[in-house]
Amino acid sequence: MPSSIQLVDKRSTPQSGSADEDILLRPFYFSDSAQLYLAVHESLKELKPWMSWATAEYTEMTAKEYITIARARWEEHTFYAFAVTRADQILGACTLSSIHPIYHFCNLGYWVRTSCHGQGIAGRAAKLVARFAFEHLGLIRVEIVIGIKNQPSIRVAEKIGAHDEGILLNRMVVGKSIYDAKMYSLLPSDFGLVARL
Ligand SMILES: CC(C)(COP(=O)(O)OP(=O)(O)OC[C@H]1O[C@@H](n2cnc3c(N)ncnc32)[C@H](O)[C@@H]1OP(=O)(O)O)[C@@H](O)C(=O)NCCC(=O)NCCS
Repeated sequence: MPSSIQLVDKRSTPQSGSADEDILLRPFYFSDSAQLYLAVHESLKELKPWMSWATAEYTEMTAKEYITIARARWEEHTFYAFAVTRADQILGACTLSSIHPIYHFCNLGYWVRTSCHGQGIAGRAAKLVARFAFEHLGLIRVEIVIGIKNQPSIRVAEKIGAHDEGILLNRMVVGKSIYDAKMYSLLPSDFGLVARL
């Protein structure tokens, strides 16, 4: 586990704020389980429609298990879960999953705890993690797949300039529900990088 990996987005211009607004992304630590559980519980109403794992049955043990699995998958290079933090507080998570070994693309997901919505945190996190995918994992495309009724998430994708590639039918399953989804992508060129195999 490269626990030294930290992705930082600084907000230190005099107009826009101070170091308090910096967000730092890092792998989940075992000691995050209580905070993660509280962040999820606070956010269940917003998470439930779009995240199959977000149910009333989510306990601190669920958070612990998630962290254990996420850390193991990081070692295997098959799944990267970043805790989105500010001043040591867990604000949410941003993940890279379904990493394709042949076509070199993956899925990017995010959620932000309800008390921190509306601050542009998801977009800042998504950009950091997409850049990580291009710079450190050698990927050439990151996909953001969003249920067509998930307007807040669609706004995030639009605001970060992700490419709108249209609607995919029956592309999303949440629990027992099937949804059409919007496909957005980010490319290395969006970050001034060159796609290389
Ligand atoms: C989607 C989500 C990650 C957005 O995170 P965020 O950090 O609040 O994102 P932003 O601050 O950029 O806000 C995005 C949009 O959410 C909506 N929004 C933000 N705060 C809101 C609030 N307090 N109440 C209602 N809507 C709100 C607005 O439409 C906003 O767009 P705008 O900036 O054009 O007004 C967050 O709502 C969330 O975690 N949702 C549940 C999980 C989820 O759907 N994840 C994405 C799966 S694809």
